[in-house]
Parts: sequence; C-alpha cells; structure tokens
Amino acid sequence: MRMGVPMLCPMALALALLLLASGATASHSPSCPATPPDAGGTLQVSHAFGPCSPLGSSGGGASPSWAGFLADQSARDTSRLLYLDSLAAVRGRAYAPIASGRQLLQTPTYVVRARLGTPAQELLLAVDTSNDAAWIPCAGCAGCAASNPFTPSSSSSYRPVPCASPLCTQAPNSACPPNTRGACGFSLTYADSSLVATLSQDSLTVAGDVVKAYTFGCLQRATGTAAPPQGLLGLGRGPLSFLSQTKDMYEETFSYCLPSFKSVNFSGTLRLGKKGQPQRIKTTPLLANPHRSSLYYVNMTGIRVGKKVVTIPASALGFDPATGAGTVLDSGTMFTRLVAPAYLAVRDEVRRRVGKPVSSLGGFDTCFTDPAVKWPPVTLMFVGMQVTLPEENVVIHSTYGTTSCLAMAAAPDGVNTVLNVIASMQQQNHRVLFDVPNGRVGFARERCTAI
Ligand SMILES: *[C@@H]1O[C@H](CO)[C@@H](O)[C@H](O)[C@H]1NC(C)=O
Ligand SMILES: *[C@@H]1O[C@H](CO)[C@@H](O)[C@H](O)[C@H]1NC(C)=O
Repeated sequence: MRMGVPMLCPMALALALLLLASGATASHSPSCPATPPDAGGTLQVSHAFGPCSPLGSSGGGASPSWAGFLADQSARDTSRLLYLDSLAAVRGRAYAPIASGRQLLQTPTYVVRARLGTPAQELLLAVDTSNDAAWIPCAGCAGCAASNPFTPSSSSSYRPVPCASPLCTQAPNSACPPNTRGACGFSLTYADSSLVATLSQDSLTVAGDVVKAYTFGCLQRATGTAAPPQGLLGLGRGPLSFLSQTKDMYEETFSYCLPSFKSVNFSGTLRLGKKGQPQRIKTTPLLANPHRSSLYYVNMTGIRVGKKVVTIPASALGFDPATGAGTVLDSGTMFTRLVAPAYLAVRDEVRRRVGKPVSSLGGFDTCFTDPAVKWPPVTLMFVGMQVTLPEENVVIHSTYGTTSCLAMAAAPDGVNTVLNVIASMQQQNHRVLFDVPNGRVGFARERCTAI
C-alpha cells in the first residue's frame, strides 16, 4: 500500500494538513477506467476510499489527507472491533459498549453495485462478511445519509413483509406497531445508535442474476452516528443473510479478491457460487460458534515473523464459543486487530528484526522513518494452512516520505476484547474463498484485476 502524502511528525503533519486543505481534492483526479458490467456470478468490488471510488471523492467520509485518513480508519476499526466483540460475546461483556455506533452498519470499505425493484434502481452495497442483515436506506428515511436511497413506491414488485410471516420472527427485535398497518418492523441498537426498518421484499439483481423476493430491511430511521451512506450486502452465515437467501443459486459459496485502495487500474471481484472458484487452494476449517452463526471463525494457532514463531499464550488465540474468543475473518475492518498479548509478541519481534528507532503515527505504534528498513514477512498460521503475507499486506508506506508502519494494532487500552480480526488489508490481493457447505476458508495469492 503506497501513500499519497508523505508521513510526517505530528507538528509537521498539522502544517501539511493546512497546506493540503485547499488543494487536496484537485490532486485526486486520476482517469478511472470503465469497469466491465457485472455478469456470470461475478461483481466488481471497489474500495470505498480509493481514487476511483463509486462513492465519489468523499469516499464515504474519508478525510482528505493521509494522516487524517489513517487516524480516521484506526478509530473506525476500533469501533468495529468493539461491535464485533460484542456480537461474539454470549453474555454481555463486563464493559458497557463505549464505541459509538458508527459501525453498526459500517462505513463501507468495499462496495459492489446491485439493482433493486421494478424498474430496477441502482444501489451501492457494502460487502460485509460479519453481518447477516441486508439494510437498504429507503426514501424518506429520517437520519439516513444516503444520497440515492431506494424508493419503494416506484417499484411495482416491492412488498412489505406482513407481521404474520415466519420471516418476521427471524428479524432482530421484530415489532408490529399499529401505525405500520401490519408490516413487520425491526430494529438494531448499539451504544448511542439505533436503526429502525421495515422488513421488505423485492427483486434484487446482482452479477446479472435475479433474486426474486429478496428480503431486506428498508431503513426508516437512523439515530446516533449509525446513519448509513449506502446499503449493506450481508455475507454472514446466519438465517436472513444474502448467502442463506440465495442458497439454491450460489450454494453458500463465494470468494473475493479485495484490491488495494490505491489502485486505479485494478478493481477486485466478488464471485458468487461454486462456478469459477479456485480448485487448488490452501484451506482451513471454519469453526462454528452456535451463538454467533454469522461470524467466520477460523483456528489461528500461531504467528511467525520471518522464520520465528513468536510466543503467544494459547489463551490469546484459542476458540471459545462461551466467551466469543478466537479469530474471525472480516471484510469491514481495515487493519488486523489482535488481542494485546498476541499483538505485543508480533510487534516486539518486528521491532527486534528491524532494529531501528521506532515511532508512532495515527494509531500505529511501530513506524520507522529510516528508508533502509527491511521488513520481515509475517505468516498467519491456521490449522492446515499458512498464509505468508508479503510486505504489501504488512506495511503502510508513504509514497514520498520514508516512513513506514506495521499495519496492525492491538485492541484499545482498557478494553478487554477477546477477538482477533484478520482485516481487509491483510487479505488484499489474495483470493479468499468462503465455502460454507464444506466448512472451510481458502487463501491464494492473486493480483486483483478487473475481469
Ligand atoms: C492505468 O492504465 C493507463 C492506461 O493503460 C495508464 O496510462 C496509467 O498510467 C495507469 N495508471 C496507473 C496508476 O498505473
Ligand atoms: C485449534 O487448533 C489447535 C492446534 O491444532 C487444537 O489444539 C485446538 O483444539 C483447535 N481448536 C478447535 C476449536 O478446533
């Protein structure tokens, strides 16, 4: 990952921010190539913050400078980690949720295009492997930030799901208040945010395929900081998820190649169904947490820095459905988060190997300004599969400056989270296969390119 703005010490950074403020948008005008149409079960995946983001230059709220971007992303990752950790916990954690609810729906990291209704209305959906719900901002939604919401009244195939439908009982916190005229309403609340939706059905077109009577939450109200700028494609494994709803068509199998967010000429793909999936690929078994069926747990047994397996207490990596502890793969977190003992072991060995003066920047504590830094590869060791990450998956580089940082972090101080999250930067330029029927996840190196 190469950065557009040199990384600087905090004081110089503040100055650079000021200087950048005026020209920042003008410098972001690469010519973005037209992407081929989605077809044959394959969709183009774009990075929400990339130079060719379909969300436009704001990239769903990204700050215009690199340092600001890193700090923003680190804060987003923190609140998402706390949200995922709260999902993973069977009983409530000992702490109250301290994060804002901005990650309830998530600020998107990767988005795909879809069409909903008759005639079809274009939508952007965030790819989210840790959510089941399909939320779509609807016209008239109070507090939604969507610039282009779905308008149910313009679709002849739109139907609200009635309260009496069995689907209604599957929706979280479903309710049938009198003013909804028998339509199933449901809601989600986390920290300071809440979302209220009408359970609905309409025809969804993805990758050239039509999903008739696709069930989704038509958002009516968002409060707090959860205001979603776009819809959500829930690729989790739970009952109402996109995967479950398209079981006959795609057999609960998909893979993606997530492009680096600096890419102009490369986009990634989301491939739905068994067709065209890699046949020869290293895999590790999926673990099932009966309490949190949507999360993709895997058994990470160790981490190597260079050739050395670092010393991590077994309790930091062990899977425990009772507490939610273990390791999940997530497309919506940007930089891998490890529980403190695991992160410290990795970080200390990286620092020892590099052997240069260390500094911190924007939420990352292992940065080096020396241009001659030789970064060791980091290998994630899973049962049956080892994934050796090259520098591009391990290091954040500045383009013009010489600063580079280890692109991982620990859980925030004072919060006893138990979840390790393998995030999108560590998955970039790999084909990651989610094969639910065979209970496995696969990894293979691949340069993400448009089909
Ligand atoms: C993208 O491709 C175009 C045309 O092939 C080329 O001119 C341009 O330099 C490429 N951009 C990058 C960033 O590689
Ligand atoms: C994870 O792998 C370790 C090492 O092979 C094993 O001891 C442990 O039982 C596995 N955990 C689960 C939940 O399969």
